[in-house]
Amino acid sequence: MSSRSAHVSVVVPTFNESRNVAELTRRLGEALLGFEWEVIFVDDNSPDGTYDVVKALAVENPRVRCIRRVNRRGLSGACIEGILSSAAPYVAVMDADLQHDETILPEMFGRLERDEADIVVGSRLVEGGSSEAGFSAGRAFASSFAIRLASFMIGAKVSDLMSGFFAMKRERFETIAPNLTTSGFKILLDILATASPPLRASEVGYKFRTRFAGESKFDLRAMSDFFGLLVHKVSRGLIPPRFVMFALVGGTGVFVHLISLRLCLGLAGIAFVWAQTLATVVAMTWNFFINNMLTYSNAKLHGGRAFLGLLQFYAVCGIGAIPNIGVANWLFGMNNSWWLAALAGIIIGTVWNYTMSSLFVWRRAD
Ligand code: GDD
Ligand code: MN
Repeated sequence: MSSRSAHVSVVVPTFNESRNVAELTRRLGEALLGFEWEVIFVDDNSPDGTYDVVKALAVENPRVRCIRRVNRRGLSGACIEGILSSAAPYVAVMDADLQHDETILPEMFGRLERDEADIVVGSRLVEGGSSEAGFSAGRAFASSFAIRLASFMIGAKVSDLMSGFFAMKRERFETIAPNLTTSGFKILLDILATASPPLRASEVGYKFRTRFAGESKFDLRAMSDFFGLLVHKVSRGLIPPRFVMFALVGGTGVFVHLISLRLCLGLAGIAFVWAQTLATVVAMTWNFFINNMLTYSNAKLHGGRAFLGLLQFYAVCGIGAIPNIGVANWLFGMNNSWWLAALAGIIIGTVWNYTMSSLFVWRRAD
């Protein structure tokens, strides 16, 4: 134990990780022997009382600190606050569940100290790295697809852009922090896409392990969130991340519409106009519930409010059909290209639906 201030700081976001934090702290002590280190757990008021366990560890070990956040959720936001609470020149972020290999931390910090890089990423995808153990096949595929797409879009020279395991110079982080988003799992992508001048990045491979205890919080929402941020950054802030999500949900609605239409037409003696009407209602209902779950998850409507919201959503989309058809018709009259006209109509309609839904249906979404 020492009275010197920390030289390296490890920030660990936690949500229901009470059974992992003691083991992680013990392993950090072994891995960082010889460093002036500290670990900062940032816990979002976990129902399993992770913060209590961390505070008990802190009583024994002054290298351990705990930030307990109340009424807030978000992996990225937790990392940001943890890093900003530190005064150490070098900071790392890692999972609490022991999936990230703490033994590469000295190498990561070493590269920063020798000024070989501004950010060092623990990677499952470079030489020496792997993720067979920790991931299901579906998850591995989705992850590698998202990473490829993201590297292509932001031109980053990091192979594991979804990694939640990295170390960087705190000074560089401090300057970009105000421009980062606080929700979801995409902090590394966000940091790399936001930093200007770009960060010099380097990677250290490691074997992604299976979770020690507890369960993963990574879900469909975390994934779509990642995609939304990507488009937001590539469009230089023009397209809001939530709009991307809304439009994607709209895309799935088209399929739902077509399938329902086909099924309705199979019903004996139904007129096309009724089948089309029914399919439209089914698709709008689908869009409403998926948006309620994913796009506006932070302003989710329940029970009677959800029912009212559904009716409002029907109204918004119904009115949205007017600018949609109006613009399409106007463009078609000008240049006779049916698909261009339809596309413009769909875009205008989607922008309308999104704007009005955000204003009236999910009013509490920030
Ligand atoms: N404070 C806080 N708030 N912590 C959170 C929250 C939250 O809302 N959500 C998750 N965490 C913590 C978890 O407790 C864990 O320590 C860490 O963030 C990562 O969450 P996991 O639930 O373990 O994610 P994963 O292992 O499935 O996801 C892995 O792959 C992602 C991308 O492929 C991790 O390596 C992630 O870091 C990575 O981004
Ligand atoms: Mn994990």
